[in-house]
Amino acid sequence: MKTYQTPAAMQRAAQVWKRAGRRIALVPTMGFLHDGHMSLVREARRRVGAEGIVVVSIYVNPTQFAPSEDLSRYPRDLKRDRALCRAEGADALFLPSDAVMYPGRDLGAYSTYVVEECLTQRMEGASRPTHFRGVTTIVAKLFNSVLPDVAVFGAKDWQQAAVIRRMTTDLNFPIRIVVAPTGRAGDGLALSSRNAYLNPEEREQATVLIRSLEAARAAVRRGPVPAAQLGKAVRRLIATAPAARVDYVEFFDSESLEPVTEVRKGTHMALAVFLGKTRLIDNGRL
Ligand code: PAF
Repeated sequence: MKTYQTPAAMQRAAQVWKRAGRRIALVPTMGFLHDGHMSLVREARRRVGAEGIVVVSIYVNPTQFAPSEDLSRYPRDLKRDRALCRAEGADALFLPSDAVMYPGRDLGAYSTYVVEECLTQRMEGASRPTHFRGVTTIVAKLFNSVLPDVAVFGAKDWQQAAVIRRMTTDLNFPIRIVVAPTGRAGDGLALSSRNAYLNPEEREQATVLIRSLEAARAAVRRGPVPAAQLGKAVRRLIATAPAARVDYVEFFDSESLEPVTEVRKGTHMALAVFLGKTRLIDNGRL
């Protein structure tokens, strides 16, 4: 498994692979890898086959964190990440530094961003106003560096996947975006690098996210429900976990992300909940 550290070195390798007719799949990550990431690597391999190339990028992208967020304490363990990628059969790691991804004197001097304006107004975009500008910018840079045919993202970040799909279409990237199912722990908690922040009580109470999705699913099985009513019921359920504080609960169309006033089978639900200081997200089709 080879490691590339600059966009130029990565592009040179990608061009060689392309000339040899080998398809490239990219799994973009911020590291501290878990089973959820490994299932994305397996999906990437399925997409390009044994002859293809699977590249995992590991980069904690500073521009998608607000100053008040957890950039400096974001968990990192490169040695373990490498071992996991090697064991899963990844062909290459892309490990760029801030200096190569954001060239210039410092981050403040960097000036070219990619901004998606339509799908980023609600949910994560409303709670974290500069987040998606950082995500779309870095993903465009990763695409330009790795030159993938396929890029695999996790369904846990449903809105992110929709935004990236839109950016890929709007900017004519010749890349197929694949969204792979959310990896879950035995008790249903969505796998996330941020779960490492939870203390034992918070970890136990964090199942309130999946329980909320299941409760909403059970409610719509009996017939359509006004979104405001279901939203209140979900918030009441979340309030039963003392460490939990709701950021948002939203009901919307899976594809367009347009909010709905009436929730029925097939409507998508997403929620963001703080457990203590840790903000977790989850979503699912009802
Ligand atoms: O989902 C993530 O881990 C990140 O947002 C991504 C797509 C790797 C961009 O930094």
